[in-house]
Amino acid sequence: MIEEAIALAVESKANAYCKYSKYAVGAAIGFQAKGEIHIVGGCNVENISFGLCQCAERSAICTAIALFGKIEIDLVIVATKDGGTPCGACRQVISEFASSDCKIVCVDESGTQKEFKLASIFPDSFHSNQLG
Ligand code: THU
Repeated sequence: MIEEAIALAVESKANAYCKYSKYAVGAAIGFQAKGEIHIVGGCNVENISFGLCQCAERSAICTAIALFGKIEIDLVIVATKDGGTPCGACRQVISEFASSDCKIVCVDESGTQKEFKLASIFPDSFHSNQLG
């Protein structure tokens, strides 16, 4: 499952629209939906109005929800040239849909992997139960 997801993240990175930053990001998320496990990819999509740039992780999550509805994410792969980790906004959005032991794997272009638990790189997060 991890190797398949890494391959999809690397493949998705090739589709990145990153003409302003030149920093291509591919993502793949492994998740449960309707009792089955699926993998969906995404890439960053930039815009001349810089604030509208969409990260790869959130592209993958939006695609998965559009295709499957309710999802529970167990795995997030982020593929970049240098093993970059998810930005804060993506950590917040991943956390909205993640299982309690969701894993994040960051892969660079030489194939080196860094692995994290979401809970360790996004501790004490704001959760819906805080709204009462
Ligand atoms: N980017 C992502 O796709 N994911 C992240 O978690 C960090 C940043 C993108 C946004 C922008 O297109 C480029 O990387 C440079 O910030």
